[in-house]
Amino acid sequence: MTDENRRKTEKNGDRPPFDPALSDLPERIVGWYRENRRRLPWREEVSPYRTLISEIMLQQTRVETVKPYFERFLSAFPDVASLADANDELLYKLWEGLGYYSRARNLKRCAHEVVDRFGGVIPSEQKDLLSLPGIGPYTAGAIAAFAYDRPVAAVDGNVLRVTARVTAEPGDILAPAVRNKLTALTSSLVPTDAPGDFGQGMIELGALICLPNRPPKCELCPIRDLCRANAEGIADRLPVRGKKPERKLEYRTVLLVRSGTSTLLHKRPARGLLAGLWEFPNFSGGLDEKEALDAVRALGLDPVRVRPLGEAKHLFTHIEWRMTGYLISVADPDRPLPDGYEMPETDDLLSRFAIPSAFAAYTRSLTSPLP
Ligand code: ADE
Repeated sequence: MTDENRRKTEKNGDRPPFDPALSDLPERIVGWYRENRRRLPWREEVSPYRTLISEIMLQQTRVETVKPYFERFLSAFPDVASLADANDELLYKLWEGLGYYSRARNLKRCAHEVVDRFGGVIPSEQKDLLSLPGIGPYTAGAIAAFAYDRPVAAVDGNVLRVTARVTAEPGDILAPAVRNKLTALTSSLVPTDAPGDFGQGMIELGALICLPNRPPKCELCPIRDLCRANAEGIADRLPVRGKKPERKLEYRTVLLVRSGTSTLLHKRPARGLLAGLWEFPNFSGGLDEKEALDAVRALGLDPVRVRPLGEAKHLFTHIEWRMTGYLISVADPDRPLPDGYEMPETDDLLSRFAIPSAFAAYTRSLTSPLP
């Protein structure tokens, strides 16, 4: 645009002038990434399996949190075959603290299918990847681009934010139409000679420069002169994100039922929230002490003492648990526990059983003195 045209546009009160040519963007992103990338375990040695595990772990979870989990997981399950054969209790124990355990369950199912349907080799075609449990468009794109150097886009929240700012997208990035538009734009920019570094570079730019929920560091950005939001001075107001639906509030009562140093655990049903994981027995609603004691008697146990453990809350994606807890001492059980219950010693409980972090406040009370 000539200076004269630019002045005219500004006078007309139209959008500030901006040259929409993004043809330099891919090369700049790749160059910047190669100079500035963080050294992360899944980048130092790349394979489809390592990309699969790291990308699943990185969903909803911070890089710093994932690092030690990634290393431990790879030591226990070094390849697809060992993951397909994983012992569930060990799998969940290695996932303990990462949350969203369905990711771990799906990883094992995914490994199984890779063995059964693809001879143990993680496929490189997006259509095949998308047919596997737990693999959505982002993860399929990441494996194809990062591990197989296929020229496809991997669009996560970081990439949506970067592209929404680059194009000054006014729509809600959670709306499918906007997401599709930004995905199509990203796909059109993938360079055939460096799709992996481009994909990781877009993510890295989102993580280090084009920050979420904070003013972006535009002065350090390699594509600031291509960025419409920067030109319009609105980068810190984008992307537009609609309100997520409110979480459903559920009140629950959690019981630490103890006999000496053993604590009662219950295995959750194979389907639904926290499927197949171990938990402290818990019940719908805020029970008072008498109701809590009755619940313990209903399990065939003989409570001798009760004391409150206080309140805690936990946020799931769609549900918020508001919990109240009781410590209930029981006499030594004189008959077997009901099906689905175990009563391990504290050491065994902590080393062998994965207790979801929803119960963290109560798990802690096993090892720290009560107030
Ligand atoms: N977030 C999602 N994928 C990532 C990756 N490969 N590196 C860093 N952060 C990420």
